[in-house]
Amino acid sequence: MPVLQLNFVSHDCLCCPLDQLALRQLGNALCCDNGHSFDIAKQGYVNLLSAQDKRSHDPGDGKDMVAARREFLNNGHYQPIAEHLAELVGSLCNENSIIADAGCGEGYYLEHLRRKLKSDHRCTPAMIGFDISKWATKAATRRMMATWIVASNRNIPLAHNSIDCLLSLFGFPVYPSFAKILKPGGTLLMVDAGPQHLIELRETIYPSVRHSDSTVAKNALSAGFSVGETSTVRFQTTPLKQLKINQLLSMTPHLYRASRAGLERVAKLNHLPVTVDVSFRCLRMSTED
Ligand SMILES: C[S@@+](CC[C@H](N)C(=O)[O-])C[C@H]1O[C@@H](n2cnc3c(N)ncnc32)[C@H](O)[C@@H]1O
Repeated sequence: MPVLQLNFVSHDCLCCPLDQLALRQLGNALCCDNGHSFDIAKQGYVNLLSAQDKRSHDPGDGKDMVAARREFLNNGHYQPIAEHLAELVGSLCNENSIIADAGCGEGYYLEHLRRKLKSDHRCTPAMIGFDISKWATKAATRRMMATWIVASNRNIPLAHNSIDCLLSLFGFPVYPSFAKILKPGGTLLMVDAGPQHLIELRETIYPSVRHSDSTVAKNALSAGFSVGETSTVRFQTTPLKQLKINQLLSMTPHLYRASRAGLERVAKLNHLPVTVDVSFRCLRMSTED
């Protein structure tokens, strides 16, 4: 007798990555009417990443990066970001809303969001988290039950016009795909590094530090979004020990961009408060479909 994977939360808006037909749960799998079938992993997630959306054998953040991020975030160093996110989303959604997190990592922000929406707004909207990394998605299942999926921003297996609020935190946005899945009038909330973000690490790594102007507005506008409210969260962490600094570094693109000498200099840092400077942008889909 097969054992049902009861810890996966299915949702009506899931669709097949191969033909975009609706997926229904049949036992331990999600199936579409064309006979494509995707097993539900025992941890409580489904891998809907098709071969053509994979650019490598093991795409996205690796196991060690996921573990470092989880440890760093669980220590509360980025809690002000999670708090501000919850305030913004709380004002945007209601009990019937569907919230999705694109590039959800190991689920820290969705978990915090669920807790805050419940306690401060008495609201428990549906939550879907997807990430191209199977390690991140698997780790997210340990935080809470939700609709966790391995999927790429380039081919999101969610029905068109189905999502009320889409989050992209420190992610790799693909605006045309985001525009497809959002409802008319839905909101995309982009959270990205600002000019002073982790300036102490960047000044240690690079001979000169630049901040490239964000291309968010330009790319989002051409995909049909209009730019709404923006806000900033800026603070200094408590002094971070060497281990925490290295965990933080492995959450950033600097891990790959830095020279070996730059990485060695960072590895020697200890007891350093770090500046966090993060911008929040609300982008709205037009109300006309
Ligand atoms: C910097 S991490 C941010 C994770 C999470 N949003 C957070 O802030 O904790 C970027 C995440 O995007 C994922 N990612 C990279 N490319 C992606 C893609 N094309 N589609 C979906 N996720 C992707 C990575 O696996 C990683 O988990």
